[in-house]
Amino acid sequence: MKLCMIGTGYVGLVSGVCFSDLGNEVICVDQDKKKIENLKKGIIPIYEPGLEELVLKNYKNKRLKFSTNLKKSVSTSDIIFICVGTPTKKNGYGADLSQIYNVAKEIRNSISKFKIIITKSTVPVTTGDQIEKIIAQKVSKKKFSVISNPEFLREGEAIRDFTYPDRVVIGTKDKKSNKILKNLYSPLISKGAKYVNTSRRAAELIKYASNAFLATKITFINELANLCEKIDVNIEDISIGMGLDKRIGGRFLRAGPAYGGSCFPKDTKAIVTTADKYKTNLSVIKSVIESNQNRSLLLLKRVEVSLKNKIKNKKICFLGVTFKANTDDMRDSSSLTMIPSLIKKGALVNYFDPTGEKNEFKKIKNVNYSNSIVSAIKDSDLIIIHTEWNDFKSINFKKIVKNKKFIIFDMRNIYSSKKMKELKINYFAVGC
Ligand SMILES: NC(=O)c1ccc[n+]([C@@H]2O[C@H](COP(=O)([O-])OP(=O)(O)OC[C@H]3O[C@@H](n4cnc5c(N)ncnc54)[C@H](O)[C@@H]3O)[C@@H](O)[C@H]2O)c1
Repeated sequence: MKLCMIGTGYVGLVSGVCFSDLGNEVICVDQDKKKIENLKKGIIPIYEPGLEELVLKNYKNKRLKFSTNLKKSVSTSDIIFICVGTPTKKNGYGADLSQIYNVAKEIRNSISKFKIIITKSTVPVTTGDQIEKIIAQKVSKKKFSVISNPEFLREGEAIRDFTYPDRVVIGTKDKKSNKILKNLYSPLISKGAKYVNTSRRAAELIKYASNAFLATKITFINELANLCEKIDVNIEDISIGMGLDKRIGGRFLRAGPAYGGSCFPKDTKAIVTTADKYKTNLSVIKSVIESNQNRSLLLLKRVEVSLKNKIKNKKICFLGVTFKANTDDMRDSSSLTMIPSLIKKGALVNYFDPTGEKNEFKKIKNVNYSNSIVSAIKDSDLIIIHTEWNDFKSINFKKIVKNKKFIIFDMRNIYSSKKMKELKINYFAVGC
C-alpha cells in the first residue's frame, strides 16, 4: 500500500513509521520545512521511546520518505491520512479545525484516481461530512471516500500502542474502502486488535468519548485523593482496591497532578462544545474540566502550607516538567501553571527534565534549568516530583541535598511514605 501522512507530528510520524515497518510505502508530509529537512538527516523532532531507531531503519530501507510537497505526495498515494493538529480555538472551547479544512482544500487539487482519505486527527462529530463537502466541490464523489480512523496512541508508549492497539476503529459505510483498511490493519488484527467498523460519525465520537471518560477517571481519583488527605487514608490503597474490580480497572486510576497533554484538556472542551451545539448538556464532563482546572491551584496550596506560607526566596526544584513521563510534550502540562505561580510569589525555581530545557520557561526570571538531578536538587528547600520518570525513582536525597530540612512533595506517589519517615525525610505525597 502507498500511504501518505499529512502532518508529521506525534501522530503522523509515529503512525507513518509504524505503517512503513509493517511493509507499506509511506510518505510523511509536513509544511514545516525544518522538520522535514531534519528528518531526512535522521534528526527526530520529538522524544518518543523507540522512535528514532524505527525511523532510521525504515528511512534507510526506503519504505519511509519525508516531503514538504503535499500535492505530489497525495497524487502518488492510495490512502491519505490527515494527522494535523486540532487545538482548542483561541477564543473559546471548541476545536479549531482550520488545519483540517486547509488540508482538505489542498488535497482536492491532487485527486485524479480513487483515494481513501482518512481523518486520524481527533475531530468533532460531522467534520468528516464537512471534509467530504469541501473535496466534492472539485472532485466527483466516485473518486474518493472520507473515513474516520481515530488514533488512540499515548505519548510515551506510542509505538507499542500503535502496534498493539486494543481496537482499530474505522468509520465508514463504504464496503470497498473498509475491505482495503481491514487488509491494511490485518497485521495488528492478527495480534489481537479488535476491528470495529461503524459509521463515520460514531467513529469520530468514540474518540472524544474515550478521552473524556479517561479524563473523568483521573479526575475522580484526584478528588478522592483530596478526601483521603483529610481522613488518614492512603489513596494508593483505594486505587488498588477499586482497580481490581474488572468493571473498573486499575489504569488511569492513579492520583496525581491535573491531567494535561495535547489531548485530554482540548478534547474534553471540544466534546462539551459539540454537545452544547446540539443542545445537550454534558454536565459530568463540564465538572471534570472545572475540577481539573482547580487541581493545580489546590496542589499549589499544599506547597504553600508545606513551606508555612513563606514562599519568598525559597528554592523549589521541579523534577520533570512535561505532562507525563517518557515524552517531551509540554502542551497543557500542570507545570506551566505551577511554576509561574510560585515565581510570582517570590520562589526561586530550578528544574530538571530528562528531555532537556524547555522554551516555555526560558524567559521567566528566576527559573533555572539544571542538566542533572544532582545539580537540580542539591540546594533545594522543597523538591517537587512532578513527573514519573524512572530516573526519579531511586534518588538518595539525604546524600545529595545540602539543606538538611528539605521537603519532598511527591506528586506521583513514587516513594513509600513509611520509608521516608524511617529516613526522617520531611515527605508528603498526593492523597495520603
Ligand atoms: N499527540 C497525541 O498523543 C495524540 C494521540 C491521538 C490523537 N491525537 C490527535 O492527532 C492530531 C495531531 O496531533 P499531534 O500531537 O500529532 O499534532 P502535532 O502538532 O504534533 O503535529 C501536527 C503537524 O501537522 C503539521 N501541519 C499542519 N498543517 C499542515 C498542512 N497543511 N500540511 C502539512 N502539514 C501540516 C504541523 O506542521 C505539525 O507538524 C490531533 O487532532 C490530536 O488530537 C494526538
